[in-house]
Amino acid sequence: MKKDLITLAIESSCDETSVAVLRNGREVLSNIIASQIDLHKKFGGVVPEVASRKHVENISYVIDEALDESGITLKDIDMIGVTYGPGLVGALLVGMSTAKALAYSLNVPLVGVNHIEGHIYANFIEYKDLEPPFLSLIVSGGHTHLVYMKDYGEYEVLGRTRDDAAGEAFDKVARALGLGYPGGPLIDELAKIGDSKAIDFPRSYLEGDSFDFSFSGLKSAVLNYLNNSKQKGLEIMVKDVAASFQQAVVEVLVNKTMNAAKRYKSNNIVLAGGVAANSGLREILSSRCKDEGFNLRYPSLKLCTDNAAMIGAVAYYDYIKGYRADMYLNAVPSLKLGEKYGG
Ligand code: KG4
Ligand code: ZN
Repeated sequence: MKKDLITLAIESSCDETSVAVLRNGREVLSNIIASQIDLHKKFGGVVPEVASRKHVENISYVIDEALDESGITLKDIDMIGVTYGPGLVGALLVGMSTAKALAYSLNVPLVGVNHIEGHIYANFIEYKDLEPPFLSLIVSGGHTHLVYMKDYGEYEVLGRTRDDAAGEAFDKVARALGLGYPGGPLIDELAKIGDSKAIDFPRSYLEGDSFDFSFSGLKSAVLNYLNNSKQKGLEIMVKDVAASFQQAVVEVLVNKTMNAAKRYKSNNIVLAGGVAANSGLREILSSRCKDEGFNLRYPSLKLCTDNAAMIGAVAYYDYIKGYRADMYLNAVPSLKLGEKYGG
């Protein structure tokens, strides 16, 4: 019988220090996430230098916990997977130097993983039967991509944001509303009790049938609305602003995704990234897919936001394809989907 492949995966691209142990590509034995959110809250966003320092403090403990929980010892690890981009360079380097040290000392292969790919692969962990090809909408704090995934590791990028990422828009609007960081979950909660039709914020579809996105105009419209209301001494109904803003984002995401699925004749649609946790997006996209006969998948909440299990899933499939990194693997802060240097 073919031997199982045990992967230890490390993710440190932003403000989560995470380590996971996987058996083959899709079975998660542990997935420990040390979130730094509370630390960055008082600054209203992630402070890169603070994030790097915290990763250094956390990483060894998170590795120990991931091993403990999985029941796997270091000598059973067959390979190390690590995020090498995109992300904050200092934060990435902490995970990468740890991964290199482990791979070197254990004498096992090292695989460099693209973080955006990780978000898509979270779905392979959630749905054991899922296989490419499919259409994927990846919406996170740093990225908004509409992608046709042809095969493992093979993508056709149909559209991406030209300015703010969807999650970034949520975070910036939440900040303007005085809600705190990260803004997505806070707006999501308020939107549940607000009126999504209260304010008619603009929906940006860009030219013709473009699959690109733009959220900076919407963000400015919300800021203008808030300023005008304040100047006129009008009461601001925060829950209505949250609901109307979320509705504007979700409508554009859903319409473009449905159009792309039809154009590319993709019956399967896969949602990924932190904003995939948004209940409005899940609900509206689910109902459109149901009505129009498409099959929608999205990961559970823990696998939507940053975690090392999704990185381990990519590492496994990259390993099978023959990708190996060496000790010269460097962090690539603006790594694109589909690019694989050194990884
Ligand atoms: O994927 P992720 O953890 O990190 C990046 O790779 O960027 O995504 C974080 C982003 C943040 O912008 C956060 O506000 C957003 O995902 N987010 C949400 C929700 N939960 C997290 N946005 C909208 N609704 C949510 N429920
Ligand atoms: Zn992410």
